[in-house]
Amino acid sequence: MKFFLDSANLEEVKNALEWGIIDGVTTNPSLIAKEGVPIEEQIRKICDIFEGDVSAEVISDTAQDMIKEGRRLAHVHRNVVVKVPLIAEGIKAVSRLSKEGIRTNVTLCFSAAQALVAAKAGAYIVSPFIGRIDDLGWPGMDLIRDIVTIYRNYDFKTQVLAASVRGSLHVVEAAKAGAHIGTLPYKVLEQLFQHPLTEKGLEQFLADHRRAFEMAPV
Ligand code: E4P
Repeated sequence: MKFFLDSANLEEVKNALEWGIIDGVTTNPSLIAKEGVPIEEQIRKICDIFEGDVSAEVISDTAQDMIKEGRRLAHVHRNVVVKVPLIAEGIKAVSRLSKEGIRTNVTLCFSAAQALVAAKAGAYIVSPFIGRIDDLGWPGMDLIRDIVTIYRNYDFKTQVLAASVRGSLHVVEAAKAGAHIGTLPYKVLEQLFQHPLTEKGLEQFLADHRRAFEMAPV
């Protein structure tokens, strides 16, 4: 399973990189807005410090404009994956961009039918939003399972990216369901390392060692 960082913040990207477990970065217009820097500039900065797929989302609402915007974003850096919303106009844009060899991440996917359409259009990645489905009282993970099954049935090459991830359980369940990628906010990434028994166990090991060899605490 690939881990992507769901952030447009340069400090978070730099810190996450140090762990050496990040394969890509996803951004969206809300995350870019939080940084207060125009999208092309911020995406270039991320690509300057990170070697891997970086998703950058279009903000137009017609296929024609999305195609133009997508081409522009793809020009920023060879690692840019153009994120396009899963609406009718978006699918037209994805078909066109895919034919031009521009990789797309089809976002805001909330049903298996939508995911089928994205794969048919040649999407490189589809992003089902599990957390937002859970918020409505439905099991978001069922959507990941359905999409993975359908893509396997027909050997679609589109990668399933579990998005809108809220905690480490989402990551584990998405991995069990066969999601190719999980995109994680920085705080979820940090959670993956944490376990109270690890901390307690380590404390005990170090205390025992100090006692036995009468070392001063470090
Ligand atoms: C995915 O690429 C999106 O940026 C993101 O996962 C959305 O998550 P949210 O529902 O927490 O905003």
